[in-house]
Amino acid sequence: MKIAVLASGSGTNLQTLIELLHKDETSDIEIAVVISDRQNAYALTRAKRAGIPTQVVRTNDFETRIAFDAEIAKHIDNYSVELIVLAGFMRIFQPPFVRKYHNQIINVHPSLLPAFPGATPVVDSLAYGVKVTGVTIHFVDEGIDSGPIIAQAVVPVYETDDEESLHNRIQIEEHKLYPKVIKQYAQGKIKVKGRNVIKVTNNHSSTQ
Ligand code: GAR
Repeated sequence: MKIAVLASGSGTNLQTLIELLHKDETSDIEIAVVISDRQNAYALTRAKRAGIPTQVVRTNDFETRIAFDAEIAKHIDNYSVELIVLAGFMRIFQPPFVRKYHNQIINVHPSLLPAFPGATPVVDSLAYGVKVTGVTIHFVDEGIDSGPIIAQAVVPVYETDDEESLHNRIQIEEHKLYPKVIKQYAQGKIKVKGRNVIKVTNNHSSTQ
């Protein structure tokens, strides 16, 4: 299965997907293209090092967000991608893009959604004083971090945590969970029924 990874920043999630899926000959998953909205994103360097094609699509080069989304869609369709994986991609897609790729876009978010959606979830979690937080992998719908939840992992919050230490521990869980979910998707094991995501295993369905 061909996937596109969209990243705006450092790309540690991308790196994990390169190591655990793209380079693993038994996985049958190919990262066909890495797309970034930032020319200097380190994720692009990681992709190039692995010999993966890259594309830069910058919002400033387009008059509307719809046109920006359409350019990304053009690349995705060019590479015959079946799943769009957002890995630290800090842009919100407009409804036409989300509808075109219904249940084909997934995102990783560093909080236990629906708590702390938006751009600063780790800071917001610390400010609120939660004792546990974590990571959520979810389908992208037309809202902000509001699509059906595929998987979550819990991370404890320590009194000594700051944004960096907590985010680092959350990312350890992201790096384990994201490749696992993408593999399940590729194997046709993830079904969506309304808001509920069902994992199909050995002819049984479960919401666990
Ligand atoms: C990840 O921690 C991801 O959860 C977060 O950006 C980071 C990207 O890290 N995404 C969001 O906050 C989306 N709202 P990476 O570039 O090292 O993979």
